[in-house]
Amino acid sequence: MSATMTIENADGPIGAAITGVDVAGALDDQAFARIEQALNERAVIVIRDQVLSSAQLATFSRRFGKLQVNVRAEANSDESPEVFWVSNVVKDGKPLGSHDAGRYWHSDLCYLEKPSKATLLNAVEVPEKDGETFGDTVFAGAAAAYDALSDGMKNRLDGLKAANGYRYMWNKKAHEFGKRPVLSEEELEKYPPDALHPIVRTHPDTGRKCLFVCYGYTHAVIGMDKTESDALLAELFDHIADPAFLYRHKWRVGDLLIWDNCAVQHKATFDYDTSLRRVMQRCTVEGSVPY
Ligand code: OGA
Ligand code: MN
Repeated sequence: MSATMTIENADGPIGAAITGVDVAGALDDQAFARIEQALNERAVIVIRDQVLSSAQLATFSRRFGKLQVNVRAEANSDESPEVFWVSNVVKDGKPLGSHDAGRYWHSDLCYLEKPSKATLLNAVEVPEKDGETFGDTVFAGAAAAYDALSDGMKNRLDGLKAANGYRYMWNKKAHEFGKRPVLSEEELEKYPPDALHPIVRTHPDTGRKCLFVCYGYTHAVIGMDKTESDALLAELFDHIADPAFLYRHKWRVGDLLIWDNCAVQHKATFDYDTSLRRVMQRCTVEGSVPY
């Protein structure tokens, strides 16, 4: 099988497409090592043509490490609780999964002490109309973004930490999109408290420095007054979305997209009519404490 595997890099610093692999089949260690290497080099990779059950997705994802069970239990798969549905579909009067995942630039589960190392997102149904597909996912290279900072900014960020909040994200989305209820302070307490992470973290495998603040969750620089903190974060959010660091993924059914949450941030595009179905299944792999 590994003899037929081909890897094609996208333009720009991140992104690659892999064909000739069946992740639900007998993928030997050597072939898996090539996939891991491509992920380290390109930060986001797509393996084409993977039609998977939730159990198959979870089994393959486990080769990358321990799977996380999402705190939003109602969006988890009944078949495999480590599989999380990202979808706009309503099934038996209930949302199948998260209807507003990825609205803002973010890194998955960065609100935890141990954020996700990798995410595997598999396209079951892709919105399509008149031969065109919608609902692309956009990625920003966090290492290239760090490298492009001025020396002055690199020095300023050295040693700084920021707060990353699930609760902060929850009500921001609730107010802006109305797809989830606005929760009181008390209700929010069932979700994780803020995680404090370095603004610049070192990638545990590649050693590269990566910018680790995101618009969706990062809301305060520790030890800085609010005006200065807001201004610094706004400048960094703007910087990371520079087109020079981006890869835009156009989905096909069967795509298995895998990304490294230290090396990229990502954002969904909600550019399609809600009558068009979009169904994705996802696993996240636990990473280490950022340093
Ligand atoms: C995710 C996510 C974006 C998308 O599943 O983690 O951010 O385009 N999804 O569905
Ligand atoms: Mn995400």
